[in-house]
Amino acid sequence: MPVGARVSAFAKLNLDLRVLYQRPDGYHELRSIFQTISLADEIGIHFARSRRTAIRMSGNIDIPDNLMVRAARLCLEEMRVAASVDFALHKRIPMGGGLGGGSSDAAAVLRALPKLAGQPLPVERMMHLAALLGSDVPFFLLGGTAAVMGRGDELYPVPDLRSPHVLVVSPDIHVSTPEAYRLLSPRLSPELAKIKLAGFQARLWTHDIGPAINDFEPVVFQQHPRLKKIRNQLRRAGATTALMTGSGSSIFGIFESKREMDAARALFPDDRVFAVRFVTRKGYQAAGMGG
Ligand code: C5P
Repeated sequence: MPVGARVSAFAKLNLDLRVLYQRPDGYHELRSIFQTISLADEIGIHFARSRRTAIRMSGNIDIPDNLMVRAARLCLEEMRVAASVDFALHKRIPMGGGLGGGSSDAAAVLRALPKLAGQPLPVERMMHLAALLGSDVPFFLLGGTAAVMGRGDELYPVPDLRSPHVLVVSPDIHVSTPEAYRLLSPRLSPELAKIKLAGFQARLWTHDIGPAINDFEPVVFQQHPRLKKIRNQLRRAGATTALMTGSGSSIFGIFESKREMDAARALFPDDRVFAVRFVTRKGYQAAGMGG
């Protein structure tokens, strides 16, 4: 019997991001606070068991080597199921903007397919498959607010934060994540790592949004001065916190009032701008077949 589902794949912000050191495996050890937000891609899924596996993608955008297809293959192999799977992707999250859109889409597939096949997978296996797909994918199995460690694949839930009004500005600037890590690496030291660890813990203990730090800002702002300008504009417009997310290029501002946020929005007529709220873990799980 063919079955279908529609799921939302939410974007994320890094409310804090500290890079400690480069590990022997080449990845960087980090500490971060991830938060899901109400900007989302929509994914329609049709699933039918069949003799041979076939996975098809359609939607409002063509993405070569889509991570969703790799996620579906991995998941079907893990379940030892052959199926015909059709995805219809409505993409809203800007790509390559530090908002985790591709990772969220892939995690949405991992969460949905076992349910559609009637064959739930243990969380440990889901985590393993997610980490194979990319460092940011495991977070999207959980959603809400999380303290994230390791290369991004070790995560601990944090109680929901009260949602402020958040403005996300996504300029048409592409930042390469490996390149951003490469530029940041020479600036890391054991002494700095100690200070970062203390600051990160202080943030979590006080369960407070600000003052936030993203270690990528200095190196990425040097290459793209416009991004620093956007952050400062958000601050001047009254944002209590304004920060880059991930390795960029999106910048977000946290506002106490909707009125202030709406006024700030008018400062960026030529950029993609999104007014969003935080999505709680409960809200996240309900919208993505992941509960
Ligand atoms: O895991 P993912 O494919 O998303 O990572 C992309 C690239 O970002 C890696 O190849 C690596 O260069 C860099 N990276 C890193 N440390 C991390 C995550 C990513 O150096 N914790």
